Order: sequence, then structure tokens, then C-alpha cells
Amino acid sequence: MDRTRAQMLAELDHRHVWHPFTAMRQWREQPPLIIERAEGEYLIDTEGRRYIDGVSSLWCNVHGHRVPAIDRAIREQLDKVAHTTLLGLASPPSIELAAELVSRAPREWGGRAPLNKVFYSDSGATALEVALKMAVGYWHHRGRPGKSRFIALAGAYHGDTTGSMSVGYSELFHRPFVPMVFPVRFAPAPDACRLPPEISPEGFECFRGGSVWPSEDPKLTAALAEYCVGRLDELLGRHADETAAMVIEPVMQGAAGMVCQPAGFVRRVAELARRHGVLLIADEVATGFGRTGKMFACEHDAATPDILCVAKGITGGYLPLAATLATDEVEQAFCGEWAQRRTLFHGHTYTGNALACAAALASLRLFDEGRLLEHVRGSAALIAEGLDRLRGCGHVLDVRQRGVMVGIELCADRRARQPLDFTKRTGAAMCIAMRGKGLILRPLGDVLVLMPIPAMPHESLRRMVDIVVETILGWDWACT
Ligand SMILES: Cc1ncc(COP(=O)(O)O)c(C=O)c1O
Repeated sequence: MDRTRAQMLAELDHRHVWHPFTAMRQWREQPPLIIERAEGEYLIDTEGRRYIDGVSSLWCNVHGHRVPAIDRAIREQLDKVAHTTLLGLASPPSIELAAELVSRAPREWGGRAPLNKVFYSDSGATALEVALKMAVGYWHHRGRPGKSRFIALAGAYHGDTTGSMSVGYSELFHRPFVPMVFPVRFAPAPDACRLPPEISPEGFECFRGGSVWPSEDPKLTAALAEYCVGRLDELLGRHADETAAMVIEPVMQGAAGMVCQPAGFVRRVAELARRHGVLLIADEVATGFGRTGKMFACEHDAATPDILCVAKGITGGYLPLAATLATDEVEQAFCGEWAQRRTLFHGHTYTGNALACAAALASLRLFDEGRLLEHVRGSAALIAEGLDRLRGCGHVLDVRQRGVMVGIELCADRRARQPLDFTKRTGAAMCIAMRGKGLILRPLGDVLVLMPIPAMPHESLRRMVDIVVETILGWDWACT
């Protein structure tokens, strides 16, 4: 792009665009990095510089950018129609996609029915809103209107609409909005770096200066799992009568700080929910579509929720689309005589958009053709091996990984478990430094997040890991 146009765009951006999750005053102090196009795993700016897309364009890109099969599917759909409503009408791509999603959803376990019904919306947050309303409506229509509250995991992030904010809490993201959210009960999450007072760090190998990361210390994670499951059991025991559903982001709580759960944890949560007569909502907005090495993270623990939320990667990262999958039993609660008013009165204008559904269908077919899940498992091993070089670093508190979802928690002193001064914004400064080396990352505070495109070729993945490791090991920690 010519210089004059690039400069004009930069000025217009500063003047008019309010960027999400962005400190706007600081944003305007620097010229914006404007991405004009992309190829495969590379983003290309207006000056022609290339960067590895290390965040999958906010955790949604799956097969890379400008994938011929997805491009073609969108163009072919465009030649028919871009959008028609699903309120009272149907469309071929939304029908076909629903069937494909159902056939790939986590399978039956412990008598739970398969997720057979698909309700479309447009984003992860709306998928959650739909799930919450399905859960409350389900109990209402079954004559238990008192079961209208939720239990969720502490620190969870499920999106930015009012309901999805309510079932999550991030001090940084949500504090001003506390007065507008509804009350939710939180059960502790198994966070190996922020132990509850009941678990003392003494006696665990990972805190004795060894090279094992807290999140992979078997004794610590087992103790944490017992503690968290016990607390959840208590909560459910006390409040099941008024609880519609338990909400969990299974296996890895992404935006919560890449907090991973010990093997078997999701299954135990699912069993508890079932035993206490509470629905289970799994939020696989981030973990779905291959990122953890399975199509859905619930499969690692052979757990099946009653309601499953998916978004982000559903279209391969091309277009906004989300789906809330539910069992027949949940959906049946909304069926009845017209006078019973059981209809789920919820919907968004672009629900089931035809272009987005066509992209999603093409993306799902690529999973079958390209052995993507196998590739992700190889990528996970490659990342783990590369990040092993951080084990001796006193400024890395923990490395948490599930598939190609990775969090590297930085600290001031690993032995003392002393966090960095968050006002210094070390994580953000490192990401800016990595940009200069051709890698785009976005941190969560002082947790560096690696979220490579699942289909990223191993050569680029190796380059990405090298840049991250070299940046951390070469950092001038005196100024933190
Ligand atoms: C687990 C999870 N749920 C929900 C959301 C919200 O998705 P969206 O940004 O599409 O509304 C996110 C976004 O990062 C997420 O990570």
C-alpha cells in the first residue's frame, strides 16, 4: 500500500476507531499496526512486513488465512444468497451445518443424551447467553422455576454480554460492571499458581526450586483437584435446589489466564452436576475445533455436557458464527401447546448467516481431509519440547499447555513465587518486542499466551517458539 494512504488510515483510526480491550490513550501514542492482508499463518501489514499470527487472530483461525476451500465455499454461497433469516425460515447451509455439528459433538456418556439440537447465534458471548436462558427456561417449563441460578468456576471468562460477564469474573475486565451483573456462586478453579489457603505450597516439588512446573506437579494437581471437587460438591449440595446449571470452560480456562485442569477434572465436575440434578454447560468457545488436540476438550475426559457453546473456530476463523448445542431433553422442555408459551423467545438478526454456515461446513470438511488433529498433537509435542528451555529461568513461574493452547506465566522471582509489578506491563512489552522479530502475540497480563493456528506448519511453529524463548531468556529483568 502506498505511504500516503497508510498514513491517512492511521490518522483515521486514531480519530474514529474505539478498539476492543485496548487502552485507547496509550494506543494513540503509537502509530497503529494495520494488517492489510494475510497468507496462511502470516499477517501482512500495510508496509508489506510479515508476522506469524501467534494468536490465531484472537483464537479463532484454524486452517490458516485465505484457505482456498473456505474461500471457495463462501464465494459459491455468495452467488446464491448472503443472508436470510432463520426466524420462521430455513436455509440449506444452516441445516447441513447443524447435522455436521451434532455428528461431531462429544458423544454420549453415563446415560446423557447426545447433543442433538443446534441453536445459532453470532459470538461466543451470545452462545453463552443462549445456554443460560436454555438452562433457566428448561427448569421453568419443568415446573421448577426456583432453579434459576448458576455456579461457575472462579476467575472464568465467558464473554462480555451481561449474562456471560455474570458467570465469569475478571478483576481487570469486569470491576466497573459489578453493579449490573446478576449474582452467581463461584467454585474454586484448580489454579496451581494461586493456591487456596487450605493448600500450603510447602512439600510440593515444584515450589522447592525443582524444574517441574506447578501445573504439571502430580501431587499438587491431585491435591488441587480434590480440594476443588470437594468445594464444588459442597456448593452443589447446599444450593442445587436453586441452581439451573454449572458452567465450565473445560480442560483449559483460556482468558482466565490459561489455567489448566488436571486430567479427569471435567469428568468429575460432570458427575457431580448430574448427581445433584443440575445441568452442565460446557463453554468450548476457545477450546473447541481442535485446539486441545481433540475436536472438543470435553472428549479428553469423556465428559458430555447437557449444553455446549461453540463459536470462534467454528467457521475456521472466517466469519462471526456461534452455536449452542443442547440435548433433545433440554429442547423438548420448550415444546408444547401454543398457549403454554414454551417457545424460546431468543434470536439475533444474523443468526445462522448463510455465508458463515458455508464457511463452517468447509472448515469442518478440512478436518476430515487434512488430519488436522494429528497435526495438532505433533505441534503440541514440538511446543513442549521448545519451551523446555525455560525450565531453568527464574522469571517463569509456570508453563501451562493443552494442545496448542499455551500460557507462560512470568514472575519476578520463581522461588519466592513473587509476581511481577503489573504496572510495568512486562507481558505487553515482551509482545511488542516480539513484533519486531515477526511474531504477533497478545498477553493476558503477565501471562504470555501462545495460541498458534492449529494447522500452522511446524517450521513456523518452531520459529514462533524460538522467538518466545529467546525473548524471555534475553530479557532485561532489571527494569521490571
Ligand atoms: C471461553 C470463552 N467463552 C466466551 C468467549 C466470548 O467469545 P466472543 O468474543 O466471540 O463473544 C471467549 C472469548 O475469548 C472465550 O474465550
